[in-house]
Amino acid sequence: MELSTIYKPIREDLIKVENELRSVSKVDFPWLSELLVYSLSGGGKEIRPALVLLSGKLYDCNLDYLLPMATAVEVVHIATLVHDDAIDKSPLRRGRPTINEVWGEDKAMLLGDYLFAKAGELAANTRNLQVIKLFAQTIQTISSGELNQAFSAFNLEQTRQQYLQRISSKTASLFSTATESGAILSQAPEESIKVLKEYGYNLGIAFQIIDDILDFIGTEEELGKPVGSDLAQGTLTLPAMLLLECYVEDNPVKRLFQNRDKQENIELAIKLVHNSSIIEECYAVAADYCDKACCNFDLLPDCPSRRALMELADYIINRKR
Ligand code: IPE
Ligand code: IPE
Ligand code: MG
Ligand code: MG
Repeated sequence: MELSTIYKPIREDLIKVENELRSVSKVDFPWLSELLVYSLSGGGKEIRPALVLLSGKLYDCNLDYLLPMATAVEVVHIATLVHDDAIDKSPLRRGRPTINEVWGEDKAMLLGDYLFAKAGELAANTRNLQVIKLFAQTIQTISSGELNQAFSAFNLEQTRQQYLQRISSKTASLFSTATESGAILSQAPEESIKVLKEYGYNLGIAFQIIDDILDFIGTEEELGKPVGSDLAQGTLTLPAMLLLECYVEDNPVKRLFQNRDKQENIELAIKLVHNSSIIEECYAVAADYCDKACCNFDLLPDCPSRRALMELADYIINRKR
């Protein structure tokens, strides 16, 4: 199913979020405005703002509070991408040259800082202290996840538990904050807040596992970002971990992490993963998280937004971008 079909219950609200993003770019400094227009002007899947809106729409939704939150999560997400690309020296994002590629890493780091602060201001417009605090804590969690990734680069001694911990911090935390805050801002009952928070968490884990799979089997054209970049950065993801388990002695990931023949070993690792059952196994793990995400949905009101959240779980498994 197409994302535009899944987003049908929130189509008009997402357009309002896009308008909010445009107004974030309206600043007096032309050089800052140029960077903001470039980084905020679309091309993304808008999954995180959609999660805020769909979760909020299940209950007593007040757009005065939901819209700033939906905008805030997208702005924070974009800030993390701007920083992530600068750290990785990545040239391509959403099918276009990255901020670091066009303006340099220094500008990218400073733009990311600006966006984090802007996101905080937007979150404060919800006037809900619980949500504002949750949002600030989530930014800390994402940073700790990215730091964890940086510190464990090229380390072969990592467990699956550590991998899950890392993707939980860097990705699932924002997904669960999106759904939880949408529910809180719409006065959902405690039990439903918990169901939606757990849905966001499990969906986020599945989302990152699929992202890590696509880094092996996707194409740059479809993804709009480089492939094979996790291995190049020394990031040990689930497919690479399973490859290490398959070939204990002679292994391209092992050779790569021990700093030998970078390009040759990345290509070999990708080829070996393709010719094995590893991708299937990774998809099965991600699918389990998606099933888990929706397992308590009968506790939520049966409405178009609930259906959309279920369809989103299905989309995430089958996505190519
Ligand atoms: C990319 O997220 C970063 C990850 C958490 C893997 P998305 O794939 O949601 O990025 P956009 O917003 O659609 O570009
Ligand atoms: C998501 O992980 C990073 C952030 C949370 C910023 P990735 O590093 O896998 O994201 P991509 O693949 O660059 O989009
Ligand atoms: Mg990255
Ligand atoms: Mg990735």
